Amino acid sequence: MAQTRTPIIAGNWKMYKTGAEAREFAAAVRQQLQGVAGVEMVVCAPFTALAALQETLAGSNIALGAQNVHFAEEGAYTGEIAPRMLSEFGVRFVIVGHSERRAYFNETDAMVNKKVQAALQHGLVPIVCVGEDLAEREAGQTFSIVEMQARAALAGVEAEQVAGVVIAYEPIWAIGTGKSSTAEDANEVVRHIRKTIAELYDQETANRVRIQYGGSVKPENIEEFLAQPEIDGALVGGASLAPESYVKLVRAASR
Ligand code: 13P
Repeated sequence: MAQTRTPIIAGNWKMYKTGAEAREFAAAVRQQLQGVAGVEMVVCAPFTALAALQETLAGSNIALGAQNVHFAEEGAYTGEIAPRMLSEFGVRFVIVGHSERRAYFNETDAMVNKKVQAALQHGLVPIVCVGEDLAEREAGQTFSIVEMQARAALAGVEAEQVAGVVIAYEPIWAIGTGKSSTAEDANEVVRHIRKTIAELYDQETANRVRIQYGGSVKPENIEEFLAQPEIDGALVGGASLAPESYVKLVRAASR
C-alpha cells in the first residue's frame, strides 16, 4: 500500500487560551517551526482567538483550525458560527463531532454529517472525530461503533471530496485521562476505519484519507503512534497548549 499520506499534527485547544494567550503561543512557535517539512501543522483554537492567530500566524506554515461549525449558511441560530465566518479568518480546518460535543452538547451523527457536508462545501477540511467509550470497548464494540460513526459522518459525501476529509480516532476513555490506547490497538482500529472507507468508496480513496489518533498523546509517546503504518498523525489536547510541547510533537512527525 502506497504510503504517501502527509501526517497531520493538530492541536485542539478546547476552551483554553484568550486571544492574547494565543498570540504569545504563536510568537513562540512560529520561528521554531520555520522550515519544518513533511508534516502538516494545525492549531484548532477557540473562535475568539482566531483573529489574533490569523494575524500572528500569517505567512507561517501553521494552519488555523476551529473546533466546531454550524451547518447552515446563516440564520437564526443564536450563539452559532457559520462556515463562511470561519473562512473570513483564514480558517482551513474544523473539528467536527468531537466526543465532548457529542456528550455535552447533544451532537448526533446526523448533525455531524451535516457539518461535514457544510465544511466541505465551503472548502474547510473537516477533522471528524470518532471513538468508543469505556463500556463499549469492554463490550467488544469498538469496531462497530467507529464504523457506524464513520459511515454516518460520510453519508452523501462524494468520492472526490472524501480524500479531503481527516478522521480522528479518539477513544473517549483515553481523552484527558493520561491513559492512551496502545499504539498497536489504535492502529487496528484505524485500519478498520480505513476498511470501512474502502467499502464505502474504494481502496485507493481509502488510502488517501488521513486518519489520526487522539487521546493523551504527548511528546513522550507520539513516536509510538507515528510508527504505526495506518496512523497519520495526532489530534492533541492538553499537550498542544504549551509551545515547547507543541513544537516537540510536530518535530517528531516531521522526522
Ligand atoms: P488530550 O490530548 O488532552 O487527551 O485530548 C485529546 C482530545 O480530545 C483531542 O481532541
